[in-house]
Amino acid sequence: MTEEITVIPGDGIGQEVTPAAVEVLEALEVDFAFQEAEAGDYVRSETGEALPEDTYDLVASTDATLFGAVGETAADVILPLRDAVDSFVNVRPATVYPGVDAVRPETDLVFLRENTEGVYSGHEDRLSDDLSTLTRVVTSSASEQLAAFACEFVEDNGYDGFHVAHKANVMRETDGRFRDSVVSVADERGVETEEVLMDAFATHVCLDPTQFDVVVCPNLAGDVLSDLAAGLVGGLGMLPSANIGPERGLFEPVHGSAPDIAGEGIANPAATIISAAMMLEHLGHDEEGKRVRDAVEGVLEDGPRTPDLGGDASTADVTDAIVDRL
Ligand code: NAI
Ligand code: MG
Repeated sequence: MTEEITVIPGDGIGQEVTPAAVEVLEALEVDFAFQEAEAGDYVRSETGEALPEDTYDLVASTDATLFGAVGETAADVILPLRDAVDSFVNVRPATVYPGVDAVRPETDLVFLRENTEGVYSGHEDRLSDDLSTLTRVVTSSASEQLAAFACEFVEDNGYDGFHVAHKANVMRETDGRFRDSVVSVADERGVETEEVLMDAFATHVCLDPTQFDVVVCPNLAGDVLSDLAAGLVGGLGMLPSANIGPERGLFEPVHGSAPDIAGEGIANPAATIISAAMMLEHLGHDEEGKRVRDAVEGVLEDGPRTPDLGGDASTADVTDAIVDRL
């Protein structure tokens, strides 16, 4: 049966790495029908709206979405798109591929980031010329849904348990609720948890990342700490992600539109291509997902590299090499 995939390249290097990932997917024998949709800064400048309703509707109805990145309109695009797939968790693996010269070669982490609330729930107010406020939302239900996913994730992938990163010593009510909800679900399921304060985690993970495997975190912490981990594993060009909902998912690199290198054709497509592998696996195409991962690994080990990894190859050179290895 044909599976419908929405493809949103977006802005900047999104326009370069997203077609690269589609090229890889098209080289497989999987029955995908791709539908390109628009979103981002360039759409807002043309129409006033960064996320057209058509795009939202397509993402909410197709089997999966591959998203590149957008620029300044990130909050107007990516938050509603995560909502379109009802995504309650963002899975962000930070691992070192063979041949990549990483700051911490032993890093092998997966962040499970709460994806609907925290400080990203959009409740901001300007109360006066001097004062702005933000309402942080934490519900037991969202925290428990994340925890249930985390329990399944550790069971399916052979981990002993997971860390819960929080700051409940200061944000007693909100992070306290998050921590208590997550830990109680894990306790019920017999999954081990260990708590870590998120600021201390930032230090520990730099000094010795082997202390951590799976890290469950609130929304903003997951955003920041996964970028930090990107710095340990070879940069943002290496971090894929999967926004998972009950029925569908949205797959995207962790990085943004990278205006500093956009248009030069030198963006590292690995993060987006590995995101596409996560999409394949989510849709049950495990063998093809593995083929893509193996091809990316092979090229990173001894093929052409983009400048962020110390090479001088273009996005197209790397993509061609990956397609050749499939
Ligand atoms: P960024 O991730 O776009 O770039 C940070 C640094 O990493 C830059 O030096 C960039 O060149 C480098 N980089 C990122 N991806 C790379 C790749 N694939 N290959 C090689 N180098 C890569 O983050 P930044 O600069 O903070 O934000 C730029 C724009 O992106 C902003 O407008 C921001 O709002 C947006 N953004 C969008 C996101 C999304 O659409 N999901 C996520 C993060 C930022
Ligand atoms: Mg981010």
